[in-house]
Amino acid sequence: MTRTPLIAANWKMHKTVAEAVQTARGLLERLGGRAPDGRTVLICPPFTAIMAVREVLADTGILWGAQNMYPRPKGAFTGEISPPMLADLGCTHVIVGHSERRHIFGEGNQLINEKVRAAFEFGLVPILAVGEKLEHRQAGLEEAVVEEQLAKGLMGLSAEQVRRLVIAYEPVWAIGTGETASPDDAQAMHAFIRRWLSARYGEETAQEVIIQYGGSVKPNNVDDLMAQPDIDGALVGGASLDADQFARIVQFQAP
Ligand code: PGA
Repeated sequence: MTRTPLIAANWKMHKTVAEAVQTARGLLERLGGRAPDGRTVLICPPFTAIMAVREVLADTGILWGAQNMYPRPKGAFTGEISPPMLADLGCTHVIVGHSERRHIFGEGNQLINEKVRAAFEFGLVPILAVGEKLEHRQAGLEEAVVEEQLAKGLMGLSAEQVRRLVIAYEPVWAIGTGETASPDDAQAMHAFIRRWLSARYGEETAQEVIIQYGGSVKPNNVDDLMAQPDIDGALVGGASLDADQFARIVQFQAP
C-alpha cells in the first residue's frame, strides 16, 4: 500500500484573477517550477480564476480543481456550475460538502451524496469533507457525526469508486480559527474513518483512500500532522493564500 500525500489549497472566496495568477506563479517559483516528487499538489481557486490558474500550472504537474459544483450536467440552475464544465477546464478534483457549504448554505447529506456521485460520473475525484462541530466534540459525539456524514455521503458508491475517493477530515472548530486538532486527536479520527471504510468496503480499499486533515494547517504544524500514519495530506485554507506559506506546507518533512 502506498498512498501519495495530497496537499490541496482551498482559496475559498479570495483572489481576483490577477491575484490568483500571482499566487500560482509565486508557488511555482518556490517549488522550482514543478510539483515536488512524492506528493500531489492541488489548487482550488474560485471559479472565476480557474482558467487563468490553469494557464500558469499547465504541464507543471500541479493540479487544479474546484470548491463546489451542482450535481447535474446542465440545465436551468441559475448561478450553478456543472461537473462537465469543470472537467472541460481540466479540473481533476472537486471539494464536496465543505463545512461552509453545509453550515452557511444549508447543504445536507443527500445533496452532498448526489455531488459525490456526479463527480465520479463525470470523471472528477470528489474530496468529501466531513467533520464535527465543537458542541459535538464536547458531547463526545464526534465519531457519530462523522460516521453519519460518511454513511450518507457515500451511499450507492462501489468499492472501486471509494478506492479513488479523497476524504477531508475537517473539525469545524478548527477551520479558520487558528485552533488545530492535536496530531493525536486528528490521527484518532483518521484511524476511525479508515476502520469504518474497512468494515464497509474491505481493508484493501480502505488502505487506498487518501484521508486529508484540514483546519488551520500551517507551516509550523504540518510536519507533526503529516507524521501520523493515517494522515495522508492536508486541505489548507488561510495558509494557502500565501505562496511562501503554502510552498512550505507542500514541502512538509515526513520523518
Ligand atoms: P483553514 O481552512 O486552513 O483556513 O482553517 C481549511 C478549510 O476550510 O478547508
